[in-house]
Amino acid sequence: MRLDVVTIFPEYLEPLNVSLVGKARARGQLHVHVHDLRAWTYDRHNTVDDTPYGGGPGMVMKTEPWGDALDSVLADGYEAGSREPALIVPTPSGRPFTQELAVHLSERPWLLFTPARYEGIDRRVVDEYATRMPVYEVSIGDYVLAGGEAAVLVVTEAVARLLPGVLGNAESHRDDSFAPGAMANLLEGPVHTKPPLWRGRGVPDVLLSGHHGKIARWRRDEALRRTTAHRPDLIERCDPKAFDKKDREMLSILGWEPDPDGERYGRFWRRTDGVEE
Ligand SMILES: C[S@@+](CC[C@H](N)C(=O)[O-])C[C@H]1O[C@@H](n2cnc3c(N)ncnc32)[C@H](O)[C@@H]1O
Repeated sequence: MRLDVVTIFPEYLEPLNVSLVGKARARGQLHVHVHDLRAWTYDRHNTVDDTPYGGGPGMVMKTEPWGDALDSVLADGYEAGSREPALIVPTPSGRPFTQELAVHLSERPWLLFTPARYEGIDRRVVDEYATRMPVYEVSIGDYVLAGGEAAVLVVTEAVARLLPGVLGNAESHRDDSFAPGAMANLLEGPVHTKPPLWRGRGVPDVLLSGHHGKIARWRRDEALRRTTAHRPDLIERCDPKAFDKKDREMLSILGWEPDPDGERYGRFWRRTDGVEE
């Protein structure tokens, strides 16, 4: 997979040299190119921003540096044999970045990121490249960062760990929280490792029992417990077919029951105490 990042802070992308992404690069599974947007400015001050049309606070990133940068990066990539680029535009007004989207992006051969600063990039840039390639405007959460570089790091790491051969154990992401395709999207429960006793705290007996069936059940119950506590919205949307008898028993203990109007509203579960999430 090829990744290009155009930014005014190339040094912000240094973490792409370490850990999982760094190793994937060293092994040649990931080809990362970070470009300084200011290389495509032609004035003395290397200007990349200007005042917004219509007035208002803040500055807007200019069309010309972005257009020239993207044309040049795309030409480079095509020349190197890359095909089917997709533009990833980090923005708080984008679609939420989810595990499902990470899986989808991990299947593309070439991602080109445009992390912005200031109030973002002149809209015409996105509209222009959307005529040539798929564009994904993505938000990593309901908060506003000063710039998109941290979002690029987030998306890159989520995508890179899904590439074939990048994780030591291919099974590792099968049980992840938010593993897509499941009828029930449950958060992963707690995990433990040696020593068996730490500061007087033991490990749940079942994990030491060697009984695979019981361990699987315990993990499932803990996933249900954690999801009801932290993300009740995920439970509400779970397809009832995703749950077996034991799941239902656990959900009942945790204070949840099937919603008889579920089909109609797409909310299949509700709390037995009547509290709305
Ligand atoms: C200060 S923000 C611009 C915020 C803009 N005024 C708005 O409310 O949509 C500057 C840049 O940071 C990045 N950014 C900020 N928050 C983000 C988020 N939650 N997800 C992805 N990118 C974000 C985007 O690249 C954005 O253009």
